Amino acid sequence: MTRAVILVNMSAAPHKTFYLETFGCQMNVHDSEKVIGTLVHEGYRQVETVEQADLILYNTCSIRDKAEQKVFHRLADYKKLLSQGKKFGVLGCVAQQEGEKIFERAPHVSLVCGSASYRKLPQMLSQLEAASPTEPASFDEASSRSRALSPAGRGISRAATLSTLVRITGLDDRETDECFETEFTARTNPHRGYITIIEGCDKFCAYCVVPFTRGKERSRTSASVLAEARQMADLGYTEIQLLGQNVNSYKDPAGKLGGGKSFAELLAAVGEVPGIRRVRFTTSHPRDFGRDIIEAIDAVPTLCDHVHLPVQSGSDRMLQAMQRLYTREQYLERIAWMKAAKREISITSDVIVGFPGETEADFEETLSLLDEVGYDSVFTFKYSPRPNTPSLALEDAIPDEEKARRLEVLMAKQREIQITRYKKYIGIISEVMVEGRNDSRGQWIGRTSQNKTLNFTAPETAAPNVGSYVPVRARASFPNSLVGEMVV
Ligand code: 5AD
Ligand code: SF4
Repeated sequence: MTRAVILVNMSAAPHKTFYLETFGCQMNVHDSEKVIGTLVHEGYRQVETVEQADLILYNTCSIRDKAEQKVFHRLADYKKLLSQGKKFGVLGCVAQQEGEKIFERAPHVSLVCGSASYRKLPQMLSQLEAASPTEPASFDEASSRSRALSPAGRGISRAATLSTLVRITGLDDRETDECFETEFTARTNPHRGYITIIEGCDKFCAYCVVPFTRGKERSRTSASVLAEARQMADLGYTEIQLLGQNVNSYKDPAGKLGGGKSFAELLAAVGEVPGIRRVRFTTSHPRDFGRDIIEAIDAVPTLCDHVHLPVQSGSDRMLQAMQRLYTREQYLERIAWMKAAKREISITSDVIVGFPGETEADFEETLSLLDEVGYDSVFTFKYSPRPNTPSLALEDAIPDEEKARRLEVLMAKQREIQITRYKKYIGIISEVMVEGRNDSRGQWIGRTSQNKTLNFTAPETAAPNVGSYVPVRARASFPNSLVGEMVV
């Protein structure tokens, strides 16, 4: 996180360069910030293009669709660059999921590393630099022994004509209790930043690859999270977003006797760090979502009045098939807590349509749930079968055209709901964080505590600074945003 340190190292070692492209969720984006910080600390310099880089890295996502195919296509495109002495690494969920198969299909790749092994990156980088070009140099001791016999091992000898044949893997850490703790995080936004509080997931929802790719749940101590929050506040950050696949199952390793905090207590404590004006958190699982979170939002004004609570389906039958561990009624109970909060809490969600066996009646229950809750935004997905997941074995797949139809119906319904909901804010003054300027529209880009986009005009004499907080009165609404003018 120490940007000063990163700058010093950038100038100290200009010879090793890397290019990193990131796909996927906020967790991946933040992992990349930590990977970049680690590389820079190890003497690498980040560059903007593949052509300028010695080391090319992809931080991949496999949550939906045929992500692995896309990664292999991308890698194939860049194979020709191997002759220029460039090295390639695949990080993230596709790396963990495909493992050593990546070396077989893309023999020019030297490093395959899942997120649970990132804390070992410095050692892997040294090995990458030191390894003899023809010798398989594995980081996972166990897998290096087995590799000689494995199909991937045969891939090595088949591809031995390739000049830089180094094989480094970080794939065996999914059972670890340790998190990727690093003081070298290269945050790009100077006002708003992520902090990971929990890694992995133990929920095993039937459709989801995350427990297989990110490994078992492990939390950082609240002391370490708070130290990072204080450091960020000292550097001038005012907004913090706490991250985890399921932040609600946060479990402080310090334990109750050691002064450990619950998630709600940690949230409140981050909100009370001097200098921090906004705290968000994502993502929540309804099963673990406690009323104490709402009590914390009520008690601490810096905690944003927004909760993202993925529901996935409004039908109990589907929720059970998805192994979501809650019923529609229990989900709605949590929504009722939010609606009883002192401030109006904006609620958003994720929904999957076309899970195997979803009938028209099940789908209609999801539609009625949208009406009942009144979300401010919903991320909608067509179910896609993913490797290793329990739902692969389910019958009654829904044809793709039907999934597409349901998705359209769902999105149209949600759009109507949002049109009505956003209209209510016309005439209301909200504080926004200024995120930037849209010159073509002559507007500033703002974000409310509820996470709504509120773009606005301001007199030239009172132009706000990016990162500052200003009051804005909304004067028009759209399905996804508001427009207004700064109150001077
Ligand atoms: N198919 C479709 N959507 C999925 N998601 C996760 N796995 C799948 C899948 N196999 C969606 C869920 C989750 C969001 C991050 O991605 O809605 O909440
Ligand atoms: Fe996937 Fe379910 Fe874990 Fe979320 S809670 S990451 S959907 S398994």
